[in-house]
Amino acid sequence: MNKNIVILGSQWGDEGKGKIVDLLTDQADAVVRFQGGHNAGHTLVIKGEVTKLSLIPSGILHEGVQSFIGNGVVVSLQALTKEMRMLEERGVPVSERLLISEACPLVLPVHVLIDEAREAQLGKDKIGTTKRGIGPAYEDKIARRAIRIGDLKNPDRFKAKLTRLLEYHNFVLKEYFGVKGVDIVDCYEETLNLAQKITPLIDDVSASLNALRKAGKRIIFEGAQGTLLDVDHGTYPFVTSSNTTGGTVGAGAGFGPCYLDYILGITKAYTTRVGSGAYPTELDNEIGIHLGEKGHEFGTITGRKRRTGWLDLVALRRSIEINSITALCITKIDVMDELAEIKVCTHYELDGVKRDYPPYDSDDYDRCEPIYVTLPGWKSETFGTTEYNELPENAQKYIKFIEAQMGISADIISTGPERNQNVIVNAPFGKR
Ligand code: GDP
Ligand code: IMO
Ligand code: MG
Repeated sequence: MNKNIVILGSQWGDEGKGKIVDLLTDQADAVVRFQGGHNAGHTLVIKGEVTKLSLIPSGILHEGVQSFIGNGVVVSLQALTKEMRMLEERGVPVSERLLISEACPLVLPVHVLIDEAREAQLGKDKIGTTKRGIGPAYEDKIARRAIRIGDLKNPDRFKAKLTRLLEYHNFVLKEYFGVKGVDIVDCYEETLNLAQKITPLIDDVSASLNALRKAGKRIIFEGAQGTLLDVDHGTYPFVTSSNTTGGTVGAGAGFGPCYLDYILGITKAYTTRVGSGAYPTELDNEIGIHLGEKGHEFGTITGRKRRTGWLDLVALRRSIEINSITALCITKIDVMDELAEIKVCTHYELDGVKRDYPPYDSDDYDRCEPIYVTLPGWKSETFGTTEYNELPENAQKYIKFIEAQMGISADIISTGPERNQNVIVNAPFGKR
């Protein structure tokens, strides 16, 4: 039976990962974030109560389950402490359930200033980032000058590193972007102050996860963003600054890839995307507006309107292979209930050539024309359905079409935002 499973987004993020992680945590012992930061927004709905999480793993509401933030996550202490307080005010004992790798790089206020300055300078060519400072924080990690959570244990070492880092960034902000930098003393004091709540949670996450593995426990690795936002395989440069794909579990949590048993690709029944970048199946018409309104397609944290479009099997084909996705979880099928017909993009055409895979060049990607297959809609309600045979025939045909095209099964169909609104065809951890 599967013990160590990965749940990740197969499209441009916001596929419904948080909901499914929360659902499957019922059978898990630990949940781990391994990349991204508070650019993520994962929504859980339990008996009508909505919880929006950015940094804290989506298993946090479950008693007796250990949550981990792995080294691959960039951590804003401001965002983390705010999220902890929000949960604590609702009676969730976060400090008892959460451990954090000391190797997590920090997202500092200066990273937010850089993110904003870059986007402003790019003007109409902007990436459309979440302006959370995620990209600049990852740049510092790769440049080997990042401050890591472990540095906070030693104020003198932290001060020396922070001073060097901020002198550099303040110079760039002032001289290149013409923007005021940050005050080094203020940043030092604020960070150390926030750190008081966080340093007790520091852990050797890799060792803890491997101890759980050896004890035969069940672990969920929770992806953030989606495959098409991956810094290497996504629609570069309109991507996030981390690898969002399955291979990142090893590097971002310190957990070997051969220990993973199952990878669930969360796939919205249509597509959405926030921010700029290629999107061949985008719908600039009333169907797109309908999907956006019915699906409440607004950013979980930023509130930004999401672009909407038809399901894109070209992109999904790549995604399944890059991630070695074992099975799909198709979400938000209920949002399509009212459509008379549904298009699915099976191929692109570029310069007269039919393509199975998306191009890597962003200009080429922009020029790709979708080739569609049209399927009949089901024009009846799937919302809240929990039995496969209660899904309308045409909804079943839609799911079967996707499965046949992609050559893998849809193990879960999500039919609403609530934890229990799912058709579970094959339970990833097996039957309870
Ligand atoms: P994540 O970033 O992948 O965790 O997804 P988000 O939480 O950002 O966005 C998914 C949105 O869709 C949230 O508002 C969820 O509550 C909602 N949602 C998830 N699954 C379903 C579903 O099957 N049907 C409907 N109608 N809403 C869903
Ligand atoms: P979850 O985990 C959707 C997008 C931004 C932008 C690009 C780069 O909720 O699915 P960044 O701030 O990361 O530098 O922005 O990536 N983006 C997301 N889109 N869902 C997310 O996370 C996202 N996280 C980042 O909109 O286009
Ligand atoms: Mg989201």
